[in-house]
Amino acid sequence: MARSPAAAADTFNYTVVRQFAIMTVVWGIVGMLVGVVIAAQLLWPQLNLDIPWLTYGRLRPLHTNAVIFAFGGSALFAASYYVVQRTCQARLFCGKLAAFTFWGWQTVILAAAITLPLGITTSKEYAELEWPIDILITLIWVAYAIVFFGTIVKRRSKHIYVANWFFGSYILTIAILHIVNNIEIPVSFWKSYSAYAGVQDAMVQWWYGHNAVGFFLTTSFLGMMYYFIPKQAERPIYSYRLSIVHFWALAFTYMWAGPHHLLYTSLPDWTQSLGMVFSLILLAPSWGGMINGIMTLSGAWHKLRTDPILKFMVVSLSFYGMSTFEGSMMSIRTVNALSHYTDWTIGHVHSGALGWVAMITFGMLYYLIPRLWGREKMYSTRLIEVHFWIATIGVVLYIASMWIAGVMQGLMWRATEADGSLTYSFVESVKSTFPFYAIRLMGGLLYLSGMLLMAYNVFKTVIGQTPVNPVIPEDLPVPSTATLAHA
Ligand code: HEM
Ligand code: HEM
Repeated sequence: MARSPAAAADTFNYTVVRQFAIMTVVWGIVGMLVGVVIAAQLLWPQLNLDIPWLTYGRLRPLHTNAVIFAFGGSALFAASYYVVQRTCQARLFCGKLAAFTFWGWQTVILAAAITLPLGITTSKEYAELEWPIDILITLIWVAYAIVFFGTIVKRRSKHIYVANWFFGSYILTIAILHIVNNIEIPVSFWKSYSAYAGVQDAMVQWWYGHNAVGFFLTTSFLGMMYYFIPKQAERPIYSYRLSIVHFWALAFTYMWAGPHHLLYTSLPDWTQSLGMVFSLILLAPSWGGMINGIMTLSGAWHKLRTDPILKFMVVSLSFYGMSTFEGSMMSIRTVNALSHYTDWTIGHVHSGALGWVAMITFGMLYYLIPRLWGREKMYSTRLIEVHFWIATIGVVLYIASMWIAGVMQGLMWRATEADGSLTYSFVESVKSTFPFYAIRLMGGLLYLSGMLLMAYNVFKTVIGQTPVNPVIPEDLPVPSTATLAHA
C-alpha cells in the first residue's frame, strides 16, 4: 500500500522487520553451509586445502557466530520489532535508531566473517570478537533497547503482553552479559586480553556462555513462541498465569546454572554443586513453558494435519522439552563425567539449536513473510510441508548419531584393563566415530537443503510484491491478554 510521508506515523514500521527477516534466511544458509563444511572436515581433514583461513579451528567459530548471532540474532530483531508493535498497537519508537540497529548488526556480522577466518579472536567461546567489534555491538544493543522499550512506553494498550517480557529480559540480560564478559585490556587494535585471570576468567566466561544460551537462544525464542503459536493456532495461550510464573522462574534460575560447564575443574566445589542444583531446578520452568505452548493447541489439534507451519512450531517445542531435559541430566556430575568432551554435548547443542531455535524461527518466518509483503500466505504450502519433513529427518540423523558417538567415546575413554592401563588409545575412539560423522554430515546436508527450499519459497512469495506498512487502527479493541485478537 502506498503511503504519504505525512501518514507515516500512523503505520507500523515493517520496513526494518522485512530487512531482518530476509537476512535471517540469508545468514541461515551461510551459517549452516559453514556447519556442513566443518562437519565434512571432521571426516576429511584435507578439505581445509592447506589454507589457514579454511582450517577447522577458524571455521568453527565462524559457524557458531553465524548461526547464533547472524541467523538467530536477525530472527530475534525481526520477531521482537514485529511483536512489540502489534501487541502495543504502536509504531516502532525512533525509526532511525531501528535502521541503525539493522545496518550496525549487519556490519558486525561482516566484521566477524572477516576477522574470524583471519584468526583474530579473543578465544572465549561465543565471545570471540575483538574489542573494537565489541564496542560496536554495545552501541547497537543500547539502540535496540531504546527502540524496544521506547515502543513499550508509547503503547496504546495498558497491558504489556507476556512475549514482550521475554524479549525485554533478553535485551537487558544480553547487555549485561556482553559488557561484563568482554571487559578486556587491548594491547593493539586487533588484540586484547581478558581482565579476569585463571578460574575467575573461566567462571565469568561460562556465566556468560550459559546465559547466552539461556537468554539469546531460549528466553527470546520463548517470546517468539508466546506470540506466534497463539496466532497461528488461533487459540488463546493455554494459561496466561503460567506464562508469568514461567517468565520469573526461568529468568531467576538460569543465572545460577553456568558452573555446570565447569564440573570437575578447579572451580570451588560448592560452586559446581550450586550450578548442578540450579540446572536440575531449571527443568521445572523449562517444561512449564513447553507445556504452556503445546497445550495452546487444545481444541486445535486437528489443524496439525493440514498446517505445516504449526507442525514446525509444535515440533520445535518438543525439541525444546527434550533438550532441556537432557541438559538437566547432563548437569549431574556423574553423567557429565561421561558426556563432557564427547559428541554427546554436540548432540545436545544441536537438538536445542536445530530442533528448537531454528524450527521455531522457520515457523515464525512462514507466518511473517506473507504478512510483511501483503500476501495471504506463502507461495507454496506444499514446499513448507516438504521443508518440515526434510528438517525433521535431518535433525534426527544429526542428534542420534552424535548421542551414540558421544556415549561410545565416553565409555571407550574410561575403559581400563585389570592392571589399570587404558583399553583403547585415543585414536581408536576417533576411528570408531567416523561412521557417525558421516551420518551427521547427511543430517546437516538435509537440514541445509530445507533452508534452500525455504529461501526459494520466500523469494517466490515476495518477488514482484509491493511491501506493505499497514495503518494502525484508530479504535483499539479492548485487548484481551491471552487471545491476541487485537494484535
Ligand atoms: C546444517 C546445520 C548444521 C550443521 C551441519 C552443524 C555442524 C556443526 C559442527 C560440525 C560443529 C562442531 C562440532 C565439534 O566441534 O565437534 C558445530 C558446532 C556448533 N553448532 Fe552447529 N551445525 C548446524 C547448525 C547449527 C545451528 C542452526 C546452530 C544454532 C542456532 C548451531 C550451533 C552450534 C554451536 C553452539 C556449536 C558449538 C558447540 C559446542 O561448542 O559444544 N549449529 N556445528
Ligand atoms: C534446562 C535447560 C538446559 C540445561 C540444564 C543445559 C545443560 C547443559 C550442560 C550440562 C551442558 C554440557 C556442559 C559441558 O559438559 O561442557 C550443556 C552444553 C550446551 N548447551 Fe545446554 N542445557 C539446557 C538447554 C539448552 C538449550 C535449549 C540449548 C540450545 C538452544 C542449549 C545449548 C547448549 C550449548 C550451545 C552447549 C555447549 C556449550 C559449549 O561447551 O560450548 N542448552 N548444556
